[in-house]
Amino acid sequence: MPHQNIIIDCDTGVDDALALLVALRAPSCNVLGITCVGGNVPLSKVVRNTLVIVEHARRDVPVHQGAARPLLAPPITAEYVHGSDGLGDIGFPEPQGAPTAEHAVDYLIRTFMETPDPPLLITLAPLTNIALALLKEPRLEEHIPHIVMMAGGITGGNTTAAAEFNMFVDPEAADIVFRSQIPKTMVSLEPISDGATLDEAEVAQIEACSSPWCWAMGRLLRKNLIRLEQLAGCPHPVSPPDLAAVAVAIDPDLAITEKRHVAIETRGEHTRGMTLVDNRRFRHLMSNAAPPNVAVVTAINTARFQALVLNALLHD
Ligand code: RIB
Ligand code: CA
Repeated sequence: MPHQNIIIDCDTGVDDALALLVALRAPSCNVLGITCVGGNVPLSKVVRNTLVIVEHARRDVPVHQGAARPLLAPPITAEYVHGSDGLGDIGFPEPQGAPTAEHAVDYLIRTFMETPDPPLLITLAPLTNIALALLKEPRLEEHIPHIVMMAGGITGGNTTAAAEFNMFVDPEAADIVFRSQIPKTMVSLEPISDGATLDEAEVAQIEACSSPWCWAMGRLLRKNLIRLEQLAGCPHPVSPPDLAAVAVAIDPDLAITEKRHVAIETRGEHTRGMTLVDNRRFRHLMSNAAPPNVAVVTAINTARFQALVLNALLHD
């Protein structure tokens, strides 16, 4: 696979942590920088968790603080999923490092406007930082080559029946990004839960490795497996959404995509934060059909996904 410079925007909770560990250790990836936004947990914990994960990956990557809250909506967090510390309350040690002094939005603008070969942007969180960057520097729209987003659902949500968490937290920011002309890939809930799965076999292989990144990955995945078995009443694979998005970004050939128009609902009483995917059969013949603006992932190859995760982690 070609070597790829990337920037990752995250709200480090458990699945962001899994995604960051794989991105930071993947041989074909060069993580230039990480930007943090409030989401799963408040921004201060997101930054702390991100620093913890970067250090467990034994990488030296700058971490930038971004927006602490959505553009308009009141902040919403998800400690019920990620634990009060955002990393499963496993007891990770405090990080040694600190975030940079450069705000995430300024870092994004400077990097994409100044770099002759701009990186791939992966977003694993509410899109507040990206929207703020586009509002502050509109020319940015022509300078971001591609965004791969963990975002939305094709048939429904996880936070409400209609909306996935990243979209539900900041629908206005999502609307700004989805309306932009930036080439976008949307990795949504359905193909993730169907295809981007890890079972006991993969988790045990990771746990058997003594590196600090495998220790962190193994502890987080094991916690996930145990929680899912309790919920399902039987062994159940984990399918961390953000890890799927990073895998699709690293190896696009492990996903099948369809070009679709996706609109973000910002006003619906029951549907606020919904990613409305236009799947109508003869939409191209309908006068009210907007042109496609997103490559929507519809399937993920499980074997290729699992191989990518293990290859990233099980080598020094
Ligand atoms: O809905 C799942 C997404 O919301 C993931 O990115 C998770 O980390 C949360 O940010
Ligand atoms: Ca996330």
